[in-house]
Amino acid sequence: MVPQSLVGKKVTITAGPTVEAIDPVRFLSNHSTGKMGFALARACRDAGAEVTLIAGGKVDLTTPLDVQRVNVLSANDMLQAASQSAAAGCDIFIATAAVADYRTRDAAPQKIKKTQDEMTLDLVKNPDILATISHTYPDMFMVGFAAETQDVEKYARGKLASKDLDMIACNDVSRKDIGFASDENAMTVFFADKYQQEPEALDKASKDDIAQQLVALIGNTI
Ligand code: C5P
Repeated sequence: MVPQSLVGKKVTITAGPTVEAIDPVRFLSNHSTGKMGFALARACRDAGAEVTLIAGGKVDLTTPLDVQRVNVLSANDMLQAASQSAAAGCDIFIATAAVADYRTRDAAPQKIKKTQDEMTLDLVKNPDILATISHTYPDMFMVGFAAETQDVEKYARGKLASKDLDMIACNDVSRKDIGFASDENAMTVFFADKYQQEPEALDKASKDDIAQQLVALIGNTI
């Protein structure tokens, strides 16, 4: 049973991949399914929060009951939706989305024909949604996710500082049995120095279980 730790709190969650158009029929994206973000939306709702869930790309998951869902495609769309949700009032921002690092500079207006033997895509960096919201709203409780294969603590602490986060949950993506499309996950959670809280290891469990543990940690920290 999750304690009613987020009663009266407004939570915004980003989930899933983003989709960056190449032309009207092709895109750049990744394998994120949105499962972790949707599990967190359910857990936050069950803890009494009012939840806005911004789902990117082509997430094919049922919208949790009593959760406000906003569908977007690209990173720029996700940033716009996240900014709107933050401006409308938000206490906790949880970024689980696997945002594409780059997008095409200009999506072709018509389908690109295969007339050349080689082609080059001109890519530009996407905005960092989490860092943008965090730097705009310094009092908002910010939770990030990170996928690392090595030096987990070093990279986690680096992201806590550079993105001005309160908490970051890291998973080891070199493990085949957890992450992305899996129904299970295992994480280590690191906290900003000001909380003087030791890292918490969450053992392999269902994403719903991990989400409930993360919500309990957020409730105890905020
Ligand atoms: O820098 P990195 O991609 O490892 O950071 C991961 C965290 O930052 C995740 O919480 C992710 O949702 C968020 N992020 C974001 N916008 C980006 C890249 C990452 O919100 N463009």
